[in-house]
Parts: sequence; C-alpha cells; structure tokens
Amino acid sequence: MTFTPTKTLTLADKVRADFPILRQEINGKPLVYLDNAATSQKPLLVLNTLRDYYEQYNANVHRGAHTLSAKATDAYEGARDKVAKFINAASRQEIIYTRNASEAINIVAYSWGMNNLQPGDEIILSVIEHHSNIVPWQFVAQKTGAVLKFVELTPAETFDLEQFKELISDKTKLVSVGHVSNTLGCINPVEEIVEIAHRYGAKVLIDACQSVPHMPVDVQQIGCDWLVASGHKMLAPTGIGFLYGKLEVLESMPPFFGGGEMIAEVYLDHSTYADLPHKFEAGTPAIGEAIALGAAIDYLSTIGMDKIHAYEAELTAYLFQQLEQIPQIRIYGPKPDAKGEGRAALAAFTAAEVHANDLSTLLDQEGVAIRSGHHCTHPLHRYLGLPATARASLSFYNTREEIDVFIKALKETLDFFAGFLG
Ligand SMILES: Cc1ncc(COP(=O)(O)O)c(C=O)c1O
Repeated sequence: MTFTPTKTLTLADKVRADFPILRQEINGKPLVYLDNAATSQKPLLVLNTLRDYYEQYNANVHRGAHTLSAKATDAYEGARDKVAKFINAASRQEIIYTRNASEAINIVAYSWGMNNLQPGDEIILSVIEHHSNIVPWQFVAQKTGAVLKFVELTPAETFDLEQFKELISDKTKLVSVGHVSNTLGCINPVEEIVEIAHRYGAKVLIDACQSVPHMPVDVQQIGCDWLVASGHKMLAPTGIGFLYGKLEVLESMPPFFGGGEMIAEVYLDHSTYADLPHKFEAGTPAIGEAIALGAAIDYLSTIGMDKIHAYEAELTAYLFQQLEQIPQIRIYGPKPDAKGEGRAALAAFTAAEVHANDLSTLLDQEGVAIRSGHHCTHPLHRYLGLPATARASLSFYNTREEIDVFIKALKETLDFFAGFLG
C-alpha cells in the first residue's frame, strides 16, 4: 500500500517529531502505538514543562512568600485557567484538580451522592460505562438505599435514548453517563440527556475521558452539572485530572478530603473551609503535573480541537475500511459514516476462534501496541456476551501507514491461527 498524503493527513507528519517515544523499535520493529484510549503519549512541550518545574521552580503552592513558591503557585493556578477555558467553564472556581477521572467521580459520589440521596431515589447509568462510573455509584446505592438503573443498547450498539426516556422519572436524582464510550466508540447525545434529566430535576455527571482529548467539549453548551476527565489521556502526565462542577452545585457540596489547603480556619473541634476550588483540594497537589496539564492544553489548542477531530475522523474511516475487509473480524459499536464521523477513533473487535489476548501478544511481536481484555467495561462485555475484545485506538499522531502495519500484522496473525487450528 502506498501512502498518499492529503491536505488534512499531514497533521501526524507535522507533530510526530514532538513525541520522542514514538521513535523507538519494539521487538525490532518500529513502534505502532494504537492504545491511545488507555493513555496518550506526551509531547516534548509537556515533558519539558514538567522537567522545568522540578529543575527550576519546585516549591509548594499557596504557602510560601518566597519567589519559587510564588512562581509555582502562578503556574499551577495558571494551568487551572487553561483547563477552564479549554472546556468553556464559566469560572476558574469550577475546576477542581484531581488525580484522575476516577477520583473526580468519587468526590461527587461521596460529597454529593452520600449526602443527597435517600432510599428509593434512582441513579441512571448505562451498561456502557467504565467501571469508574459504576463502582462509586454502587457504594452510594449500598449506603443510601438509592437504586441503580441502566440504559441498554440500541441494535446499532449505541446508547438507547428512547429507553432512557422511559427509565427517567421524578424518582431520578442523578444521571451519570459517558460522553464517548471507550469500548463501543459511540458518542452519546449528552446535550439531550442533560436537557431531559434537568426537566425531571435530576443532576447530570458526564464522564468525558474519551471526548475531551479528541473533540471540542463545551460544558456550558452541554449544560451538565459535573464533567470529569483524566490528564494522562490528553497528553498530560499521570496523576492529574479534573472535576468540573457548576459553581452553585460545588458550593452546595461539603468537602470530601480533609487536610491542609482546603481549610480557612482550624480549631480543635471543628474547621471552616476554603473557598472554591480549594475546598476540594486537600494536601499538597500534583503541582508539576497540573502545570504540565496546562502545557498539554496549550499543545492541543495550538493545533485546534476541530482539526484534531477532523484528522482522527479521516483515520477512523480508513481504519474501518481496512478492518471491514477482514471476514473473521466483528467490530463493536456504530459504524462511522464515509467521513469517519459518528463514532470515536477506536475499534474494539473480536476475531473468530482467536482470543483477544493472543492477538495483542502476537501483534506486539510486530511492534504494534493494541489493548486486549475488558477495557474496564465488564458489564458491557457481559451484556454483549464477550469474554474480551481487542481494541485499536487512534490519536492525531497516528498515520495511515501505521494502520497499514497493524492490518498486515493482524491478517498474518489470523492466517497463522487459521493454519494452526486447521
Ligand atoms: C470512559 C472512561 N472513563 C473513565 C476512565 C478512568 O480513567 P482513570 O483511570 O484515568 O481515572 C477511563 C479510562 O480508561 C475511561 O476510558
């Protein structure tokens, strides 16, 4: 297959040099990294920003009058402004730094869920959710007596909006759903979900782990009460993520973690709390990582999320075109349209008679990194009757040539198994 660059397909060519990790060989073959839904790679801007912090102005934030602490505080709080602007939050106070999306959901579960739900109240989730958006609500349900309800799939393997409309009622106090599925790749109609939920007086949390790194996301347009994301999936280091919450909602919530930084005054028998956003940020935070998240956002914004989305859609169309030519493969989730739109830039699939783990192990021999297993969506795999799937997930630094390498290795692996199994 010859590679014919088109105007938009030059994005990966332009940015690849910024990602030093991509220059290596794995098992003697050039690395083809197709596990971006699990975690993204990091550009030099992010790596250098983290290093600069530790090399030049490492100090604790909000505490010292000295120069290094002031510099660290400015950079740390400046990164919060960048997150707020990136998702169009109305105020910087609406952005709480967390370790990751899981911690962000747990903060809402413990601070809001445990204090606002009663026996018989209902929480609507979907069978598509990542474990991070199921297990915390199980804790809440077990403790408060609230009941979990699950939206299932349409025949096209997308979020069933019609069933959601039937499930929701005055008993519904919370709807917590993903924006984009990390397994099916479906893009949920979050604006409509929020609008319907709010009509019933329910609050809405959106898990935006798989959307924020790949498309423009505007919290005011979505209208959600909370939205969560992980930095490590959007070019930033691990150990940093964020919780967005509407100001009045966050103000109504008690702190969850107690400790330094989150207080106004501490007495022996009680304390008063800091204003937002610090009320939810106890202890020394991941300072360098938060600053590097700001750099990641600078990097994404310089390219433009529209451009990233458009390029990834083109790659998606190509990936599906190639995968669909392999008869043994069954891909899950909705099909993309001719332009690759209508779903995320990933494909979870199974191959007849070959376990996903064997596929990924053999592809690794060819330098191709894909994920296999349940992708932290046990209930969805169980719903689909699958023990595991293999998943290739793309980023804007991937190329058509890499998809060709993946497809060739996949076909060879399937041929090998076909011969082996007779
Ligand atoms: C849709 C979705 N939600 C939540 C998470 C959890 O992210 P983290 O492990 O960074 O908290 C992931 C990670 O794979 C995800 O894909």
